[in-house]
Amino acid sequence: MLKRTHTCGELRPVHAGQAVVLNGWAYHRRDHGNIIFIDLRDRYGVTQVVVTPEAPAAYETAQRVRSEYVLAVRGVVRRRPEGMENPQIATGEVEVVAQELVVENPAKPLPFEIRDDIEVNEHLRLKYRYLDLRRPRLQRNLILRHRAVKLMRDYMDAHNFLEIETPILTKSTPEGARDYLVPSRVHPGKFYALPQSPQQFKQLLMVAGYDRYFQIARCFRDEDLRADRQPEFTQLDVEMSFVDQEDIIEVISGLCRELVAQLTDREPPSLPFPRMTYAEAMERYGSDKPDIRFGLELKDLGDLLADTQVGFLAAALQAGQRVKAVRGPGLAALSGTKLREQVKAYEDVVKVFGAKGLAWLDYPSEGSPRSPIAKFFSPTELAAIAQRCEVEPGDVVFIVADTDKVVAAALGELRLRIGRDLGLIPADQFRFLWVVDFPLLEWNDEERRWEPVHHPFTSPKAEDLDRLESDPGSVRANAYDLVLNGIELGGGSIRIHRRDVQERMFRLLGHTPEAAMTKFGHMLEAFEYGTPPHGGIALGIDRFIMLLAGEQSIREVIAFPKNQQAMEPMTGTPDAVDKAQLDLLHLISTAPKA
Ligand code: AMO
Repeated sequence: MLKRTHTCGELRPVHAGQAVVLNGWAYHRRDHGNIIFIDLRDRYGVTQVVVTPEAPAAYETAQRVRSEYVLAVRGVVRRRPEGMENPQIATGEVEVVAQELVVENPAKPLPFEIRDDIEVNEHLRLKYRYLDLRRPRLQRNLILRHRAVKLMRDYMDAHNFLEIETPILTKSTPEGARDYLVPSRVHPGKFYALPQSPQQFKQLLMVAGYDRYFQIARCFRDEDLRADRQPEFTQLDVEMSFVDQEDIIEVISGLCRELVAQLTDREPPSLPFPRMTYAEAMERYGSDKPDIRFGLELKDLGDLLADTQVGFLAAALQAGQRVKAVRGPGLAALSGTKLREQVKAYEDVVKVFGAKGLAWLDYPSEGSPRSPIAKFFSPTELAAIAQRCEVEPGDVVFIVADTDKVVAAALGELRLRIGRDLGLIPADQFRFLWVVDFPLLEWNDEERRWEPVHHPFTSPKAEDLDRLESDPGSVRANAYDLVLNGIELGGGSIRIHRRDVQERMFRLLGHTPEAAMTKFGHMLEAFEYGTPPHGGIALGIDRFIMLLAGEQSIREVIAFPKNQQAMEPMTGTPDAVDKAQLDLLHLISTAPKA
């Protein structure tokens, strides 16, 4: 085999005159009669190879070369003739004149071209993922991922953290999703669960005295998939002892700043990152992960409409509901039909979140308002709404009246939609935000019980602890989320480290003492052997890389992801297994035959 002396991204004018060997894939081939150009590609770059009849055997071979053949080329580097340089690529000033050309392996015609600027349907991309992964964009993403994870390891190491692995075959960890289960062959009828996170193990490592732990940890959650959710994903998982929330926020903020500074050409965010309480985020942005790259905050109109004659608003306020608004800049300039279409589209957005309708008021720069309900508002109300919403001439104000929860969700989403539609969200910024003081519990109306907002090991704020049983909904947690550009990047908390508090928490969540012992006995027991105060956080690595890479889906930064149906089309996973295998695992399948 002709072994490479250089990579396809390495040669420069200083190499002119040198004899070299390159290995790589034929990216493009151009036959110009008595001269054939082959762009040879590997993960380091592309180099132009020139083949002429002066090397007859090589020339004859070059005529047979097709896309994605694997080649070895021996030749001499020369500067490209004046005017023929290609400033788009790093090797663009030189080319290699081939003396010998070997086809190491041919390639069949491809199901799609290896190029960044083509639209290929995702099923095909995943089925031939090894070809998809040859695309420069995906190679850049995976290289970025490698660098980011290395930087994380170096940073954590420099801050005295130890990387410790925890089991994959384990017991159920409650993180709010369904578990993936693995049947035991040796113990009939028993199952391992794949970890939804290493949560309990990292806390037990604190009990064991490893006061600064981290892990690049694979987690498994059987939940509905979205652009930023996969059934298996990777966390930077962290836990620390003898700390409070500030220590964790400081370590993680420093790491995030470093990642942006080292791995992107953007302005690194300044420290400390801004903070907002959960209550404020919900009030101003209708979301616990606000995108603070743009304004259009939600405004409360309740006090302005106390005496309103507008029936449905008066009724809502009387019933203790909220009336809030979001501004649509410049939308009053749309033509009648366009405006109606826009309102209809936005109405569809809010209805998904349970809003019964979407009212709107326009403030045209000239002429009279077109809003059919404007005439029911008093001039004072219209003026007050305009002032509260910081309306400029030409704006439209969208109003939703409903429960606090519905108004927040509906207008929070509408705000994002308007921001996107009007191009108000700058794409070139990294805006981190800590959201703090989350509620400890939320009421599950369907199942009529309290559920933890994070997980059952999150500690209540000391000052709220005495309301744990009397008014659970008002208890705040020592919990914090890290948000980047409107995406939840990570979450964590200070933990409960006393058995009595942990038992109260389990009781409140509806676990009998026996059930709590069966599920979490190991935790309760550990808490009796000298548990340090501790807390931690986990960052979603896939999401972080997605944002650093400027991608829209975490599938673009995972080598072999699952599709939206939790399937992997290349290997055909999940798949049926033999009856013999099921028998061995003491399982009977009740699924209908495919
Ligand atoms: P949490 O459940 O908030 O916390 O998860 C932490 C972060 O992991 C990422 N993430 C996901 N990424 C891709 N696909 C998924 N299905 C998925 N689910 C979560 C998110 C999220 O913010 N044990 C706690 C952490 C702690 O308390 O220390 C935990 O796992 O970016």
